[in-house]
Amino acid sequence: MEKFVNTILITGGAGFIGSHVVRLFIKKYPNYKIVNLDKLTYAGNLNNLKDIENEKNYEFVKGDIVDESFIQSLFKKYQFDGVIHLAAESHVDRSITNPTEFIYTNIVGTVNLLNAARGLWNEDMIDKRFYHISTDEVYGSLGDEGMFVETTPYDPRSPYSASKASSDHIVRAYFHTFKLPVVISNCSNNYGSYQFPEKLLPLFIHNIKNNKPLPVYGKGENIRDWLYVEDHANAIDLIFHKGKEGETYNIGGNNEWQNIKLIKKLCELMDDKLGREPGTSENLVTYVKDRAGHDMRYAIDSSKIQQELGWEPSLEFEEGLEKTVAWYLENEDWLNNVTSGEYQKYYEQQYVKR
Ligand code: NAD
Ligand code: TYD
Repeated sequence: MEKFVNTILITGGAGFIGSHVVRLFIKKYPNYKIVNLDKLTYAGNLNNLKDIENEKNYEFVKGDIVDESFIQSLFKKYQFDGVIHLAAESHVDRSITNPTEFIYTNIVGTVNLLNAARGLWNEDMIDKRFYHISTDEVYGSLGDEGMFVETTPYDPRSPYSASKASSDHIVRAYFHTFKLPVVISNCSNNYGSYQFPEKLLPLFIHNIKNNKPLPVYGKGENIRDWLYVEDHANAIDLIFHKGKEGETYNIGGNNEWQNIKLIKKLCELMDDKLGREPGTSENLVTYVKDRAGHDMRYAIDSSKIQQELGWEPSLEFEEGLEKTVAWYLENEDWLNNVTSGEYQKYYEQQYVKR
């Protein structure tokens, strides 16, 4: 039997960000046992982890964080030393069409994990850690000026961000009330490989490749702050190991883009990669009805994690975008696999009637 110094539960490890975190931990910490718990919803895909699935320190468990007794027995079985909680329903548009699922997974699921950790660690919280991964969307929508800092009051406006805000509050309540050793981070929009093509960049890469319309919500004036997913995973590693108990850290790319400017940049890059005449992809831009309650601007001030933990983004955006586009073009099978089946139904509901 292999001896591990720590057994860590990563939830949602078969999703976009989770798969990058699992990969990083498996490779960087061979003496940690990593248990990846994932329900494998439409967004979870074990193909995201093909390269590490046979590693000795990795184990996958299929299960639902909403299932309280299952979560209790999982904690009893593995005696986790730490939890990195990423499992969530994560897409704003889906939260508009079906908010209830977000309440179950993002709120009830988080509470089940907190209760199980509390039950297990009650006698001995030393060297234990419950790390809750959250989003900048909990802070609401910015105007032209300002940035989100860790003390910005919460003002969520979509069912997704409201469910994440709720879970953040509960995690903090467990710190104050039960002394559970928690840490939280709130990150801006991630981009990179293995992102499900319902989110802006992989969706538009997929559509450009297939000469399909690019559905730009409203006037395309909304602004997002983009961070390369591997930089987020590095920040998560740092916070998990060095972040201060009870604290919150904002993570962002200091990289704001108005949607339409980003889309035009992507179109240029895609024309170049696909050997198309300049301007070909941009012709696919189609303005469609705006998202309900569409937050105008997100921007993260990440000076706390930079100053206190020495984190900084490793890539310039141009380089990250180029790598990302190259990855989706080289991994056609991955994209074709996730866009078959259920995806078609979602796409029709979301876009064809718009
Ligand atoms: P994702 O949708 O790609 O992955 C979510 C994963 O959770 C999937 O593998 C899914 O199968 C799993 N899951 C869903 N419901 C579950 C349940 N009930 N039980 C167990 N597993 C379940 O999401 P993502 O983009 O990788 O986001 C991961 C986390 O990071 C989320 O908590 C999200 O709120 C947060 N976050 C995301 C971004 C972003 O830009 N994507 C930015 C900041 C924070
Ligand atoms: P998204 O990737 O869904 O992330 P979030 O809503 O969490 O920021 O969307 C990024 C931005 O792109 C957001 O302003 C909405 C916009 N958008 C479109 O214009 N069209 C689309 O088809 C999608 C999915 C997003």
